[in-house]
Amino acid sequence: MYSRIIGTGSHLPEKILSNHDLEKMVDTSHDWIFSRTGINERHIAGENELASDLAVPASRRAMESAGIEADEIDLVIVATTTPDMLFPSTATILQSKLGIRNNCPAFDVQAVCTGFIYALATADCYLKSGKYRHALVVGTEVLSRIIDWTDRSTCVLFGDGAGAVVLKSGETPGILSSHLHADGSYNPILAAPGRVCNGKIRGSPFVSMNGNAVFKIAVNVLEQVAEEAMQANRMSPSDIDWLVPHQANIRIIEATAKKLSMDMERVVVTVDRHGNTSAASIPLALDHVAREGRFREGETLLMEGVGGGITWGSLLLKW
Ligand code: ACO
Repeated sequence: MYSRIIGTGSHLPEKILSNHDLEKMVDTSHDWIFSRTGINERHIAGENELASDLAVPASRRAMESAGIEADEIDLVIVATTTPDMLFPSTATILQSKLGIRNNCPAFDVQAVCTGFIYALATADCYLKSGKYRHALVVGTEVLSRIIDWTDRSTCVLFGDGAGAVVLKSGETPGILSSHLHADGSYNPILAAPGRVCNGKIRGSPFVSMNGNAVFKIAVNVLEQVAEEAMQANRMSPSDIDWLVPHQANIRIIEATAKKLSMDMERVVVTVDRHGNTSAASIPLALDHVAREGRFREGETLLMEGVGGGITWGSLLLKW
């Protein structure tokens, strides 16, 4: 038994914040941002737009492209670092907004930028065990809420958005393997440490990051986890038709592709148009290429991500 992606969808908020807009907010330049990160612009959610609000249109598009109605979904998993509220989970809020059956399980997964890989791997385990038939797996973020817009070292990197897939269980090969990892000793290099206590926020609620340390670790673990996935499936880079990496930074993506000797034509890159949208970035990139009809049935895709924790992981699948 396998689980297979049968539909994708995504949604970006209307408001665009370009590098040139950022030049008016902090001491930076389009050239610095673009040459260091490959980011051209990012989308910013409206003040009242929540992670679940971005997830709704992304999920509807995924269900539409899968030809599935809301009442056929029997598992909802949402990956997010910026949930609507402390509780209930964004997954249950999304379930309610979409009118998905009110007795199916719905829960959030928190693995920061690796969240979508963790969520998809979790759904895969449930579906291939035969327990559920259709899962809605979503990555959605309003990261702009936890960014200090006066800190040029972080504010140029992130954006808001949502991406979703519908997974179906069956005999046709889909997800072939998943590999998930975490090393909590790296917690301090990338965090939003603030917490709610007695009605107040204790500690900084904004993203803080040691960019150089994250960069080095990211390139190393992404190479390792890609090798692990290929070895587990007795494949080499020439067997991979598409690399769909977390869209954090073009230099991390290019360095990983180079280490794997993969031609950039086989690497999905959308970071220029939405920046780092954390758990939403992989499904956003996936939907972009899927909608262009560039993935062919039976092609092999390698998805991989790395994020706060540090967490990292990969998924190897047949389209
Ligand atoms: N505009 C202009 N100058 C800047 C900016 C900015 N926005 N930010 C920093 N600088 C300056 C620094 O102050 C420094 O100046 P100095 O030399 O006078 O001290 C100079 O630019 C170089 O700074 P570095 O931090 O060394 O720049 P670097 O080339 O390493 O690029 C970057 C920084 C883009 C953050 C890089 O380290 C990176 O991409 N790291 C990965 C971080 C990442 O992707 N995080 C996302 C979350 S984790 C994940 O998703 C994987």
